[in-house]
Amino acid sequence: MSNVVPSRRTRAVAERQPSQSSQPSESSESPGKTAHQLDDSTNWWHNAVVYQIYPRSFADSNGDGVGDLGGVLERLGYLELLGVDAIWLSPVMTSPMADHGYDVSNPRDIDPLFGDLATFDALVAAAHDRDIRVTMDIVPNHTSNQHPWFAAAIASPAGSPERARYIFRDGRGVNGELPPNNWPSVFGGPAWTRVAEADGQPGQWYLHIFAAEQPDLNWDNPEVFADLERTLRFWLDRGVDGFRIDVAHGMAKPPGLPDMDLATVGLLVNDDNDLRFNNPGVHAIHRKIRAVLNDYPSAANVGEIWVDDNVAFANYIRPDELHLGFNFRLAKAEFTVDDIRAAIENSLTAVESVGGRPTWTLSNHDVEREVTRYGGERGDLSVGLNRARAMALVELALPGAVFIYNGAELGLPNVDLPDEVLQDPVWERSGHTERGRDGCRVPLPWEGAAPPFGFSSTPNTWLPTPASWASLTVEAQLEDINSTLSLYRQALELRYARSEFAGDGVEWYGAPAGCLAFRRNVGRLVCAVNTNDHPVALPPGEVLLSSAPLINGELAPNAAVWLV
Ligand code: GLC
Repeated sequence: MSNVVPSRRTRAVAERQPSQSSQPSESSESPGKTAHQLDDSTNWWHNAVVYQIYPRSFADSNGDGVGDLGGVLERLGYLELLGVDAIWLSPVMTSPMADHGYDVSNPRDIDPLFGDLATFDALVAAAHDRDIRVTMDIVPNHTSNQHPWFAAAIASPAGSPERARYIFRDGRGVNGELPPNNWPSVFGGPAWTRVAEADGQPGQWYLHIFAAEQPDLNWDNPEVFADLERTLRFWLDRGVDGFRIDVAHGMAKPPGLPDMDLATVGLLVNDDNDLRFNNPGVHAIHRKIRAVLNDYPSAANVGEIWVDDNVAFANYIRPDELHLGFNFRLAKAEFTVDDIRAAIENSLTAVESVGGRPTWTLSNHDVEREVTRYGGERGDLSVGLNRARAMALVELALPGAVFIYNGAELGLPNVDLPDEVLQDPVWERSGHTERGRDGCRVPLPWEGAAPPFGFSSTPNTWLPTPASWASLTVEAQLEDINSTLSLYRQALELRYARSEFAGDGVEWYGAPAGCLAFRRNVGRLVCAVNTNDHPVALPPGEVLLSSAPLINGELAPNAAVWLV
């Protein structure tokens, strides 16, 4: 296709020198070869475009209907073509899949559903050959209830060291029949489940902020960090370039586990006053994690931090804590000038206070896809798509790291799935009142005219792909200069290649009502957005890229433009 500049990438793979201070890995866990890591920079993450792969939904190489690592390996060329700097793999470790991998029963192995360690090693090497870094999800807040530690805890008495790795408490009430406090689970129902003791009688309760199959670890117990350190080094020694830390504002719990104000909670809702999260003790944990990562100078970690307050957010990315904080402000912003501007200003203000780097995203595997979100209550997907394209140019015009959720680059909407195929634990735990997150996790459409569009060789994929996605396949979009995929490819290429993207600051331009315009402070790239339902005149400059064709030389409704 003519509109995309040839790949910017050059091969830059070098042997990583083991750090002096890193612990030797256990021989049974060693990859048995020198790990490869890209070595051109220790701050590759400052402006990286990171592509989130939800492995179940990306590409299925073995025909079982579920995506896997072999599928990622086969489609690496696509990611290179797209122009991303790194991938983030949602969890691929051994898991009973109660929460699709976010319930880990062995953090130092690959689940057979996704492949094995050999395939993982091959993926890391092949990605590095293409100049793409590999980061993995790590789940330190909880384990699976099928983790050997939890099995041992259940089999051991109250007060035992085995139970001390989790948060077991006696119940309230005359016979301990009431949960130890009033905390609800994020997924619905109580955050506590009662176990049967060795004598068969109901006994203690254990805490699970998420599903009952995800018992919370006791981060006051030094064994818990020691095991996480083993896990971090296990994957770093295999050559991974960093981690996405799940529930990075979790882990630490308030002393005494007091009752919480239930007005602050809702299913899958986040609130800064929620006692279950963002407790001060979490920062000591991040400092310990960072100390491990510092042994691997080009590795970086990004934490999932659902915290709104700027100061509280910034605390997580102080120089000795996380490298990056996953920032949901743009994903939560309405398509209005005020919301978009407030999201950008707050994000920049928060990180500036600690000298950190901003991050941006429009969606991930936990939230509604942006095309549907921006379609509004009327569900107008064509408006939603136009706005999603405009917002892609907004986020890619900003300084910092950008996270693209797989399928966003194809302009995929959420899917209204029938009840009988829903798999998110939220559906069951909410008593079928909350449909959960499956609608944003439908398998990607690659090629062909009928579902599953090359995702798998079986039509029985883990979630069904709608027939209407025929026009959204990679194949259909690749040669179409106006497709969302082409827009992303051009935007990523320009973002990498053009000097106008220089500078860490943003200056605001005056703009007509309903419009927003900002400029990169050093390179002077201008990004202008029109949220009106009518065209508006462009700011001065030469158009570099526009999310929709200009209308008589003016910026179309629900569109954005880059100018130099
Ligand atoms: C994070 C993940 C989400 C998961 C939860 C529990 O929020 O992003 O998918 O369900 O943690 O691990």
